[in-house]
Amino acid sequence: MPEARVTSADSLSLPELAALFNEGFSDYLVPMRLSEDHFADHVRNNDIDLSCSQVVVEDEPVAFALVALRGEDAWIGGMGTVPAQRRRGLGERALVASMEETSDRGTSSVWLEVIDRNEPAIGLYEKLGFELLRDLIVWSLVPPDDPPPPSQEVEVEQARLWIAEHRQSREPWQRTDAALRHMHGLRALTVESGAAVIYRSAGDTTIALQIGATDEEAAADALLAAASGASALRLSNAPAGEPASRALERLGAEQVAWQHEMRLAL
Ligand SMILES: CC(C)(COP(=O)(O)OP(=O)(O)OC[C@H]1O[C@@H](n2cnc3c(N)ncnc32)[C@H](O)[C@@H]1OP(=O)(O)O)[C@@H](O)C(=O)NCCC(=O)NCCS
Repeated sequence: MPEARVTSADSLSLPELAALFNEGFSDYLVPMRLSEDHFADHVRNNDIDLSCSQVVVEDEPVAFALVALRGEDAWIGGMGTVPAQRRRGLGERALVASMEETSDRGTSSVWLEVIDRNEPAIGLYEKLGFELLRDLIVWSLVPPDDPPPPSQEVEVEQARLWIAEHRQSREPWQRTDAALRHMHGLRALTVESGAAVIYRSAGDTTIALQIGATDEEAAADALLAAASGASALRLSNAPAGEPASRALERLGAEQVAWQHEMRLAL
């Protein structure tokens, strides 16, 4: 068996890292294959720090843990071990090495999301002391053919301020204001019933990014207005039980995945 060494992710090229990412996720519970461009977007939008993120290399790179940094918070932006090398302690080694790097930079909390059926990963996170905070749902809605509720397009900043005043809990990492600042093509609208949504288009899909609503009905109006003309609307990691999730459930949206949000205090 070749000796395993740990190195920072920035010692690999972006295409090499994207290939390792895709191999680690090749048998994942949901399809997860990123083109090199999408992998680069993932790194940029989520503030993944490749000098902090660590890779385990034998003859080839075999395990990785990507870690993002924002102030005192860190977030695991994907980790994996290539299928043929699992259960040899390599995933744990990559993750622990990444967290040691973040700790040296003053991080106080490490956050992550994990699909609730992902027993190997949950086992690893619990072993390292991560604790469950809340459940998040990935939603996909095929909008009805009915006319959309009346809405008003507004400046993104106006919607952002309204949402900041009305949100019930912290945004998950990929939809925070810091993430949105990296994104292009953002649009926003409000509905009279009392909701604002920030979203963007990806092909013929509407990606809802932030939503604030006084209640479930208002959330439904805003999501239907944003989805108008699209073939689908997607909202990732909406907190279970909050107005957006209740609205999507009522509208018959599909639950693509349930995720546990977990945190480790360093
Ligand atoms: C999750 C994953 C990274 C674990 O990598 P790995 O290198 O096989 O894990 P390790 O050998 O370092 O195991 C460390 C700990 O994880 C847990 N674990 C790993 N595989 C497990 C399994 N199949 N069942 C239960 N627990 C498991 C155990 O607690 C283990 O500690 P132990 O060996 O003392 O029992 C790997 O299964 C993987 O790449 N999965 C696909 C991608 C993925 O799900 N990534 C996480 C997304 S959130």
